[in-house]
Amino acid sequence: MRSFHAEVTDSVRLYGDTHLLWFVSPPDMVGATPGQFVMAYAGAGMDPLLGRALSVHRVRTTDRGAEFALLFDVVGRGTDWFSRLRAGDEVRMVGPLGQGFEPRERVERMLLVGGGIGSAPLVWLADELVAQGREVTMILGGRTAAQIFPAELLHPSVELVVTTEDGSLGEQGRVTAPFARLLSWCDQAFTCGPEPMFEALYGVLRDSALRKPVQGLWEGRMACGMGICYSCAVFPVQGGVKLVCHDGPMFDLRDVYA
Ligand code: FES
Repeated sequence: MRSFHAEVTDSVRLYGDTHLLWFVSPPDMVGATPGQFVMAYAGAGMDPLLGRALSVHRVRTTDRGAEFALLFDVVGRGTDWFSRLRAGDEVRMVGPLGQGFEPRERVERMLLVGGGIGSAPLVWLADELVAQGREVTMILGGRTAAQIFPAELLHPSVELVVTTEDGSLGEQGRVTAPFARLLSWCDQAFTCGPEPMFEALYGVLRDSALRKPVQGLWEGRMACGMGICYSCAVFPVQGGVKLVCHDGPMFDLRDVYA
């Protein structure tokens, strides 16, 4: 983990209010794994003061060398500043941070469940799992079609199921219905999205007789990203406290809710 200035190579509004930035990878970022994140600092000075915790969305190699991407919704001053960056601009970051996803060895069928911008780290995870020869089914859910990551930008081997609450794309409803259908198919599941979605997925898990491992990537509010401020605390049902930035952001759903 190191502090660095990352140079923007590409900046595009990808869909809805969701923006994509590509950066030149410094050496430390080349070793990042899906589910890890960076703290990215908007503005040239100390305003806004706090960084934004953003999961690494994807990696690629171009004739410029290794690059990594961040995908985010434009929801406030900081993300609006990020969205106005252009090629050649630089962003101060610290990373890679946190404990990412841990796919089990020698299992084949992987189920990925993303809610809204929670698709961001799952796209890279899907790329990696497909490259390892595993079967990947991804469920993406949102309130409307404008919140769904474009199917044509996923690896072509990924089976995609889409749900929208207003029925504007895919099945009308929430991700829990296809999750319940596909739970028996998968060997392991991974999810990223809002905490109420995790609770709903855990409800499906609890009500089934299946002991499938499900890893969630928490997107708790992170102010420091380094275990200092406790703004990201999670309180497991069994007691104690876990810090999303230090102990996570990946936790098994059962370790939090069971
Ligand atoms: S973000 Fe400060 S302790 Fe986790």
